Amino acid sequence: MEKTVQLYEGKAKKVFATDNDNYCIVSYKDDATAFDGLKKGTISGKGAINNQMTNRLMQMLEAHGVPTHFVEELSERDTVVKKVSIVPLEVIIRNISAGSFAKRYGVEEGIVFDAPTIEFSYKNDDLHDPLLNSYHALALKLATAEEIDTIKAMAFKVNELLKAFFKKMNIDLVDFKLEFGRLPDGSIVLADEISPDTCRLWDSTTHEKLDKDRFRRDLGGVEDAYAEVMRRLMDSSK
Ligand code: TMP
Repeated sequence: MEKTVQLYEGKAKKVFATDNDNYCIVSYKDDATAFDGLKKGTISGKGAINNQMTNRLMQMLEAHGVPTHFVEELSERDTVVKKVSIVPLEVIIRNISAGSFAKRYGVEEGIVFDAPTIEFSYKNDDLHDPLLNSYHALALKLATAEEIDTIKAMAFKVNELLKAFFKKMNIDLVDFKLEFGRLPDGSIVLADEISPDTCRLWDSTTHEKLDKDRFRRDLGGVEDAYAEVMRRLMDSSK
């Protein structure tokens, strides 16, 4: 399959049309941003890692009954995905306190929750992705009640599958962000990416951060952290 016109360029990926109207090609970049685009940088090799990691995780989820947009990996950075209309919600699941949760509620990072939490943000750059609940999402007609129920159930299922998968790599899945899309028949599939850009991943033994917080917080060793997660992922599938 060949790229035709570029449909969209985001902070970390480009999306291209193809000669088949049902499919797009996503192309992962090394560009990184944080804090709503205020901090900009490059993480060398990130695009290739995030592409391949996302695809492996999506295939694992598919094998466990989670429908996704994944179709075929074309190259290091490029993947064919089903064309979807993205539900404009960022769905965040948390297992351990960190990031904006710790800040908002004035708690330390690293508190293990008895049960995972879910929150939604309205995916809208002009408004800086404001937090909202499912009633707000319904009022704004961002999704139907049925779609929101489906998204919640899928997000919690993805959490259980990813948590167990990362645990085998001696990694604790702290929190992560998912996005969902609608296929032409109206069904909901998991879309976007699952990578150290969109997850907080802590080494289970040392609690070392192996994710984009190294970039956000200028901790150094950013490339090495991404490569380490990829190495453990490849080892786990041997
Ligand atoms: P937060 O603690 O900053 O709200 O982030 C929660 C999780 O969501 C964390 O794993 C990073 C991820 N995330 C994104 O993927 N994109 C975003 O724009 C934000 C704000 C967070």
